[in-house]
Amino acid sequence: MRTIPLGETGVDVSAFCLGAMHFGSRTDPATSYELLDQYVAAGGRFIDTANIYARWVEGCQGGESEALLGEWMRSRDNRDDLIVASKVGFPAPVDDLQQGLRASQIERAVEGSLSRLGVETIDLYYAHVDDRSTPLAETLEAFHRLVTAGKVRWLGASNFLAWRLAKANTLAEGQGWTPYCCIQQRYTYLRPRPGVDFGAQVAVNDDLLDCVASEPVTLLAYSPLLSGAYTRPDRTFGEEYRWPDLPPRLETLCAIAEELDATANQVILAWMVQSEPPVIPLVAGSTTAQMTENLAALHLTLSADQMARLNRAGIVAEGPSS
Ligand SMILES: NC(=O)c1ccc[n+]([C@@H]2O[C@H](COP(=O)([O-])OP(=O)(O)OC[C@H]3O[C@@H](n4cnc5c(N)ncnc54)[C@H](OP(=O)(O)O)[C@@H]3O)[C@@H](O)[C@H]2O)c1
Repeated sequence: MRTIPLGETGVDVSAFCLGAMHFGSRTDPATSYELLDQYVAAGGRFIDTANIYARWVEGCQGGESEALLGEWMRSRDNRDDLIVASKVGFPAPVDDLQQGLRASQIERAVEGSLSRLGVETIDLYYAHVDDRSTPLAETLEAFHRLVTAGKVRWLGASNFLAWRLAKANTLAEGQGWTPYCCIQQRYTYLRPRPGVDFGAQVAVNDDLLDCVASEPVTLLAYSPLLSGAYTRPDRTFGEEYRWPDLPPRLETLCAIAEELDATANQVILAWMVQSEPPVIPLVAGSTTAQMTENLAALHLTLSADQMARLNRAGIVAEGPSS
């Protein structure tokens, strides 16, 4: 599989990262194993989970995805071939362990993730959501201690505003701490209405695109396919995306999909990895057919003209550069 540099770590990661959020909960273990095997057979090596996946599914508490990944890696004996990412700090009304990025919360949470995954080191450990009530220095120093102790290799941020990410990395640089090498944000082809509130989730905006174009921080896109809404009659776009920008964006997307004899989902995934700088989509599915369609996007090439049309489409005169 094509690879993309992960910030300044010196490591290249798979251009499509596999989203394992529902593995072991909504997606049963046998299907989860099948999807993981399918991704690896396609050359994929980069897998994304979090300590809270997927506690919102009935009967689950969080940790099911990490535990399933751990069992699958043991059964396949392939841990050393993979880049495994997990996360800490998504606000969840469960106990204070998972609610923030205090040093004590991070120190406890990492042990749980290491144990469920059954690994000595988590390759990429994310701050799942910015925690404005904890000083950045406390979080960064705690993360750096994990790196020094060999429990974590690299750090990522998720759901941060651009200025908070830049401030954190400036602070880390000054202190000799490990910086965030990547940022994982809500991002798809449709642009949300300006000012829309996604709760704890933060969508990519022009500030962030500018930031990743100038800083050595790789952008990863979660929810790139909006739960399949681009192609499925049983799914709809959320209100957040319903504004006058939507029709011209969709029209261009569908026209280019037709030109390429591809699906809208495939065009979005290809558009992301062919953007400059490239964006790594978190690719998720619950059936092998979905995964086959999504992985085939790796072989789709958009022309410079098609990229420009996709970038230009919409009511914003000068669209984001990626
Ligand atoms: N950092 C964060 O805060 C955050 C937040 C959310 C997600 N994430 C990460 O991002 C990953 C992806 O997120 P997401 O699940 O929200 O992504 P998504 O791309 O919006 O949705 C994936 C879902 O779309 C449907 N789908 C996928 N491919 C399809 C296809 N080819 N045709 C039709 N339907 C298709 C499937 O729905 P059904 O399974 O219902 O059929 C699939 O489960 C997660 O696994 C997680 O690792 C991170």
